Amino acid sequence: MNLFDPFQLKGLKLKNRVVMPPMCQYSVTKKDGIPNDWHYVHYVSRAIGGAGLIIFEMTDVEPDGRITDYDLGLWSDEAIPAFQRIIEACHNYGAKVGIQIGHAGRKAQDAPTPVAPSPIPFNHDFKTPRELTTDEVKEMVEKFRMSVRRAVKAGFDVIEIHGAHGYLIHQFHSPLTNKRHDEYGKDLTKFGREVVEAAKSEVPADMPLIMRISAAEYVDGGYGGDYAVEFSKEYQKAGIDLFHVSTGGEGPIGSGGQPGVHAGYQVPLARQIKQALHIPVIAVGKLDDPILANSIIGNEDADLVAVGRGMLRNPYWTLEAAVQLKKQIDIPVQYERGFPRISK
Ligand SMILES: Cc1cc2nc3c(=O)[nH]c(=O)nc-3n(C[C@H](O)[C@H](O)[C@H](O)COP(=O)(O)O)c2cc1C
Repeated sequence: MNLFDPFQLKGLKLKNRVVMPPMCQYSVTKKDGIPNDWHYVHYVSRAIGGAGLIIFEMTDVEPDGRITDYDLGLWSDEAIPAFQRIIEACHNYGAKVGIQIGHAGRKAQDAPTPVAPSPIPFNHDFKTPRELTTDEVKEMVEKFRMSVRRAVKAGFDVIEIHGAHGYLIHQFHSPLTNKRHDEYGKDLTKFGREVVEAAKSEVPADMPLIMRISAAEYVDGGYGGDYAVEFSKEYQKAGIDLFHVSTGGEGPIGSGGQPGVHAGYQVPLARQIKQALHIPVIAVGKLDDPILANSIIGNEDADLVAVGRGMLRNPYWTLEAAVQLKKQIDIPVQYERGFPRISK
């Protein structure tokens, strides 16, 4: 098995195992949540560059769920055509396209009053969030549902629920940020499960559902891989078919020190989730050396490999990886002369 073998999960067929992970561009200058020419060029370039799956950046279910007012949103049908246009263009170059649906919760920096499971600020520089009422939590599930419905209408091939990096779903399942006394506090994964179930009921039966998780927290007293296995099992039962395994983002880094120093630093957690749940996973985090990325697939640590910052530097990362790994792949005809040795 290698990076350029195709991958299939339910009806999702990828031409290779390279994923562009979600990366916020903070580029919606009109602050209306609708993608513009920047997003078109950004995503379509990576499709031309050969990525098998492109996952759109965190796209929020309501305006006050954005990290900043410059983020994408799917709270209105008005946004659908602009997403559709980019998806269709990416499809022309053989890429499949996903979208990360989320809510920033207490990390919504531009919201006048951010909302969260409990009124605990991220740190001194952040606003203290307002605790969602039980009814508002239920309404929030419906907001996720509607955004997923719009994403499916726009033509996305797969949906990723953002359960990582200290955003709303993570805030609910983390014991450090959920101090509620209602049903959503007694059962920490209840909110996330309801979001997953709502999303599942909106996507076609053969469309897999992805969830991004932080499989370890870096704040003092934060959870580790074993707790991540526990809550991921709950989400798997609720309908998740594939986990995208990241870490952190929940608060100021604790006494354990700066994580992410080494190449592949999150791979052991991806492997742990894969082995414990018998479920496919995407590994991510400093995997932009093609030989390393290829070994993650070959050693069966993960099923897919995401390359983020590597693709910010080089939209053609996948084509260059094929050169280095001596793989023959389809090259857009316009660029064949740039890649004579790998063009099929
Ligand atoms: C500019 C930028 C924006 C990001 N935005 C998101 C995001 O919207 N959602 C998310 O889950 N992760 C986001 N991330 C994290 C990346 O998806 C990825 O997990 C991280 O960069 C580690 O992978 P890498 O070492 O290949 O860059 C972002 C990272 C960068 C550099």
